[in-house]
Amino acid sequence: MVSGLIALTACAGNDTPVNARSSGTTTTIAAPSCAKPATCTTRQLADAAGVLFGTAVSLQHLDEPDYQKTLLETFNSVTPENDLKWAAIHPKPGVWNFGPVDDLVAFAEKHHLAVKGHNLLWDQAPPSTSTTPKWVLAIKDPQRLRVVIRDHIATLMGRYRGKIDRWDVVNEPLETLGSAVQKNHFWRVLGNDYIAEVFRIAHAADPRAKLFINESTVEFMPAKAAALVALVKGLVARHVPINGVGIQAHLVSGTVDAARLEQLVGDLEALGVEVAITELDVPATAAVGPLQVQARTYAQALGACFVKRCREVTLWGFTDRYTWIDGAFKKGLAPLPFDVNYRPKPALDAIRQRLAAILPSN
Ligand code: G3I
Repeated sequence: MVSGLIALTACAGNDTPVNARSSGTTTTIAAPSCAKPATCTTRQLADAAGVLFGTAVSLQHLDEPDYQKTLLETFNSVTPENDLKWAAIHPKPGVWNFGPVDDLVAFAEKHHLAVKGHNLLWDQAPPSTSTTPKWVLAIKDPQRLRVVIRDHIATLMGRYRGKIDRWDVVNEPLETLGSAVQKNHFWRVLGNDYIAEVFRIAHAADPRAKLFINESTVEFMPAKAAALVALVKGLVARHVPINGVGIQAHLVSGTVDAARLEQLVGDLEALGVEVAITELDVPATAAVGPLQVQARTYAQALGACFVKRCREVTLWGFTDRYTWIDGAFKKGLAPLPFDVNYRPKPALDAIRQRLAAILPSN
């Protein structure tokens, strides 16, 4: 987390490097200077407000000058969109494709960005769309699967120890459109307790990292939200080492019930875990004033986080030029705060206002 020290200096015209604490590791960050919120970059506002404002990053675009410039001016945290997923980084037994994540981590170190690890375990249905590779899906012996999971997690968390300070340990443990635990490969082979087991493995691999469950669609499905709260409550009660919960918030309807989201953030925080919004995007679906509705929705989502203790909002990309929504839904829903030519949209202004509203001077 970005420190209060930065919060005090960032918008005050101070170029002196200060120390920021991130999950126990100390990094030197050059506090940026900007005289008042209107002249701050969005990243400076986030630093000054003491929040992580992040984006998913597609490694293949990182060399594009406009992509990189916009990213660096806007965010203080990055999450690899796909390159850490099991099938991408560990596609075959003993075969590791560390290159893209190594590059992102080096980029992040150079530019003083935090990095979130997404993700250690995620098996979606059907198997053809799973980000767990076929060789892992073929393991039916529980002891063998445990050994393989332990090796996968220990290798990744060991390699990026001190560089990736928080991890999505289990992604989407609940059914996408239901509230039961997803009966995925890990559940079938290891049993109902696989989630607790994997968190313990992750904690052993890097005791200082923050460990998250990351879940989708809870912001509009009350029964699923309640199931998530119950799941986390059970883990906490058994002292499973879980530090946080990510609410993805792909707001595919283009709107959000802010009161419900705020309630969910509060219910989870009451269990003693951190809450973050981890994959926010807002398709511009409204027939009238779509960009204004989109801006308001972004503001509501950030507001529902900041009104509680929640101090991380990560967007699932930032330019409409590159968004998973184009492939998964229909093209042109333009869900992000910069357009295809990296021009800021009203949503960016709304985000900036939310960040400015929580600056320490307010
Ligand atoms: O790797 C191939 C590449 O070789 C080929 O050129 C390209 C052409 O289509 O396809 C590539 O793979 C795609 C990959 O994205 C990289 O672009 C996969 O087919 C595609 O399924 C994959 O989709 C990703 C999806 O997760 C599944 O992993 C999306 O980019 C990514 O945004 C999405 O992110 C998820 C989060 O991880 C979890 N929460 C939901 C979110 C949205 O689905």
